[in-house]
Parts: sequence; C-alpha cells; structure tokens
Amino acid sequence: MKITIISGSSRDESQSLKIAKWLKERLVSEHNISDLNLIDLNELSLTLNPNEFWGGKTEPAKAMAAEYKKLEESDAVIVVTPEWGGGAAPALRQFLLMSGYTLAHKPVLTVGVSSTRTGGIRPIEELKHSTKNTRMLIIPEPLVINDVESVFGVAEGNAANEEHQAYLTGKADYSITVLLEYAKALKQVRTSGKLNYEDFAFGM
Ligand SMILES: Cc1cc2nc3c(=O)[nH]c(=O)nc-3n(C[C@H](O)[C@H](O)[C@H](O)COP(=O)(O)O)c2cc1C
Repeated sequence: MKITIISGSSRDESQSLKIAKWLKERLVSEHNISDLNLIDLNELSLTLNPNEFWGGKTEPAKAMAAEYKKLEESDAVIVVTPEWGGGAAPALRQFLLMSGYTLAHKPVLTVGVSSTRTGGIRPIEELKHSTKNTRMLIIPEPLVINDVESVFGVAEGNAANEEHQAYLTGKADYSITVLLEYAKALKQVRTSGKLNYEDFAFGM
C-alpha cells in the first residue's frame, strides 16, 4: 500500500507541513505503512500556466511531472490544506488542477489546518470543488486541526493543549483507518477495466 501526503502550504515554517510530517510518522508507527511520499508544495516551483505544464519542457513542468508520478503510483492520498483567506491555498488548487488522472478513483483524506479556533473546515469544503476532472474521491472523515499552534509540537511560548491533541490524535487514527479501507476497496474499481477516460474525459 503506497500513500502520498501533500502539504498544501507554500510558506516557510508552515504548520500544514508540521501536520503532514506528524501524519507520516503516525502512518508508520500506528498503521504499519512504510511506503510513503511527502510532497511539500513549498519546495515545488509550480507553473500557473497550463500550456507550459502540458508542454513539459521547462523546469517547473518537469518538477511537477515528477511529483505527479508519485501520485500515479499511490493507492491513497492525504491532502493537508492550510486555511488561507477562508479557503484552500492557491498552490494546492493549481497542483490539483494539473494532476490529470493521477488521483482518479483514489480515496483522499482531507486535513484542514488553521491557527484560529474556528478555522480548518472551509478549505476542506473548497477542495470538494476540485473533484470534477480529477475524480478524486474525498472520504467523509475529514480531519480539522484548528488552533494548530497549540498541538503536535507547540509554537514557542504556547502551552500544549493536551485534551485537544488527544482528541485530534484519535480522530486522525480513525480517519487513516477508514482511508486504508477505501484504498483496498477502490483498487477494484481502478482495475475493473470499466473506466473510460477517452469518451468521457471531463467528468461530466
Ligand atoms: C495568507 C494567509 C491567509 C490566512 N487566512 C486565514 C483564514 O482565513 N482563516 C484562518 O483560520 N487562518 C488563516 N491564516 C492563518 C493560517 O491558519 C495559519 O497560517 C496556519 O498555520 C496554516 O497555514 P500554514 O500551513 O501556512 O502555516 C492565514 C494565513 C496566511 C498566510
């Protein structure tokens, strides 16, 4: 079972990356998954120009293609999205937009990250609008990590919120467990021979 985690923040010292790394460790220690990739969108030079990406000649186009290969080989994906301006980060939307069929009919666990008490849900809702062409299947067990600086390695000066962290840990493990079950089930769909992207290319 191969899992890829995407950290959707394009910012240094990102809390989303902190959570992505924590989930990666958790997959190894609690779920016996060792075949893992982490795609950090802060490290990837994306092009915003679809023609440049499809042309495949420039460095950003080649770098993106290398990351999509990791998605192509994955059975399930975890998308960690920061809440920025009440939604998902632009780099993440662009990365999903150009992902072709690499996520198609694969289960996706969405994780919303926010430094505020009330954030984290909105970017998860926004990602539901990225499913038409990608055909990614967002599972109905998202993880909302609000007040992120108080958990999983607190920011300097903050007191750890043990109760919040304990709840989130339990929910994370449950969401991952469900994700892995979807991964087993959906493999059957992808290998069924019934998928037809030639006649029905754009998901409508
Ligand atoms: C440009 C920008 C916009 C933001 N907008 C929101 C927001 O609308 N709601 C919110 O809860 N947090 C917002 N935040 C704070 C993030 O929740 C916080 O930075 C969190 O750590 C997740 O982002 P990160 O992975 O980049 O660290 C914003 C942060 C940035 C950099």
